[in-house]
Amino acid sequence: MELSNNKQEIVRRGNKVVWDCGDTVVKSFNSSKPASDVLNEALNLTRVYEAGVKAPKLLEVSELGEGWAMKTVREQGTMLSELMAQNPTKLAEYISNFVGLQLDIQSHSAPLLPRQRDKFARMINSLSNISATTRYDLLMRLDGMKVEEKICHGDFNPTNVLVQEDGGCVVLDWAHATQGTPAADVAMTYMLFSFDDQKLADTYLEMYCDRADLAKQVVYRWLPIVAAAELARGHKEHEKALLSWIDVADWQ
Ligand SMILES: Nc1ncnc2c1ncn2[C@@H]1O[C@H](COP(=O)(O)OP(=O)(O)OP(=O)(O)O)[C@@H](O)[C@H]1O
Ligand SMILES: [Mg+2]
Repeated sequence: MELSNNKQEIVRRGNKVVWDCGDTVVKSFNSSKPASDVLNEALNLTRVYEAGVKAPKLLEVSELGEGWAMKTVREQGTMLSELMAQNPTKLAEYISNFVGLQLDIQSHSAPLLPRQRDKFARMINSLSNISATTRYDLLMRLDGMKVEEKICHGDFNPTNVLVQEDGGCVVLDWAHATQGTPAADVAMTYMLFSFDDQKLADTYLEMYCDRADLAKQVVYRWLPIVAAAELARGHKEHEKALLSWIDVADWQ
């Protein structure tokens, strides 16, 4: 893959740079990112796209410099996170649309996506900074959860939703997508909101549970598991909070 001369950097963090190349967007990683992870994100994106979810079309995956990169169609629009910051009086409306979008995604199935349960179990087992006893508790909890096969984004938050001029939305960033139980995905979104704004997190959960006719307690039961998954992603920023969310006793 080659980058166009007039490319512009959208974001640079960790092991990646995202480039605006006019009609396309290129997400490029350095050599520390395994090729299999890039191929997995591209495959997840393609699976949800083919299932009918509004996501950017994949155009190419190949080596770029020392690492690997994926190219997608550039979608027009404004990130929902930006709109929320610019128009705080419209927060309730934005969250309502966000919930509707998540429910729409979860109404789709993609039988070849990785299984959420397997992914969570792998992530829990990879954690060396929690005791074997806590890992066992988490795995037992996971084992008792309802198994479903709905598309779950895995990192559904307003920075991954692009709002178009006609009000339609495109969802980005499918690296963590699985087929699984919607309530687990809701727990992840709730936790991500709560890092920044507990009140917004509660508003979101209230709206989701109302629309989906789902008991909040079901979502709460997933919290230690999604906190463990987030911790396994190695995000140091919220480590302390995540360790306390993992403390199973707190959520029983
Ligand atoms: N197809 C696209 N069309 C328009 N903008 C895009 C597209 N893909 C990415 N972007 C822009 O680039 C930003 C970063 O992209 P993306 O969300 O895929 O990566 P990321 O947030 O860095 O990934 P991760 O959350 O996995 O660390 C988005 O917030 C969006 O502004
Ligand atoms: Mg993103």
